[in-house]
Amino acid sequence: NTYQYIIAEKKGRVGLVTLNRPKALNALSDGLISEVNNAVKVFQDDKDVGSIIITGSEKAFAAGADIKEMEKVTYSDAYNKDLLAQWHDLTKTRKPIIAAVNGYALGGGCELAMMCDMIIAGEKAVFGQPEIKLGTIPGCGGTQRLIRAIGKSKAMEMILTGNNMNAHDAEKAGLVCKVVPPEELLSEATKIAEKIASYSQLTVAMAKEAVNSSYELTLQEGIRFERRLFHSTFASHDQKEGMNAFVEKRNPTWHNK
Ligand code: HXC
Repeated sequence: NTYQYIIAEKKGRVGLVTLNRPKALNALSDGLISEVNNAVKVFQDDKDVGSIIITGSEKAFAAGADIKEMEKVTYSDAYNKDLLAQWHDLTKTRKPIIAAVNGYALGGGCELAMMCDMIIAGEKAVFGQPEIKLGTIPGCGGTQRLIRAIGKSKAMEMILTGNNMNAHDAEKAGLVCKVVPPEELLSEATKIAEKIASYSQLTVAMAKEAVNSSYELTLQEGIRFERRLFHSTFASHDQKEGMNAFVEKRNPTWHNK
């Protein structure tokens, strides 16, 4: 592990990325985001890894993009380097990513969590898009993903007021799939990640792709796309194996093909 701002570890079949910039509450500097992208890419290419967890510390998942790094950025700097564009690399990963959030997930931290495929929260987690207080707006999907997660009225409230949302409200609103005591966050996330990793990676990737396509497609197109992918599972070894194992009352052995 040669990273400066994160820790990347393989825990069995789960790739674990821990944001580790405690002095800045895991503020998401360019360097940190590059390292996250790099670690995720390594896990993507590792055939033994079936799912990925991104987590932070007990106090902060991430307190946002790095304000100190952004303060002096000019419009032309931002435009020329397409500031924040590289963050989206994460969403191209085909393996499921779970965000395990304790503490603050603010601004870019909330956006990073929403780029993952699901969010599990510790009871003290806090979600928010406070950019309005800094004279800017969410720049990494916040205005687009939050509305899809919690609907327009709640998303508008958060983005226009900068008010935070606690873990229980986030669960009620559908931003978070599960809330657990803070000390159980990682073990709970790991349980889910291990379960996902125990299935055929081929099928899991198809399921993820189908669900994510609903962001982009009309209902008709999405349903068609889903059905075509569903049909294509019948060309796989793992569909034959999965159904045969059920019929023979035994455990399936997945070959990821
Ligand atoms: C840089 C940050 C930071 C950030 C915290 N720190 N958040 N540095 N960028 N986003 C630093 C502080 O400057 C401080 O360092 C140290 O972390 C500890 O923070 P404190 O403020 O002392 O801690 P606390 O009093 O516990 O308050 C926690 C907090 C507060 C409520 C989370 O830090 C906070 O409001 N942070 C900013 C949250 C925010 O506005 N995020 C959105 C960023 S903009 P020093 O060295 O000073 O002690 C964004 C949008 C960009 O993300 C577009 C999309 C990506």
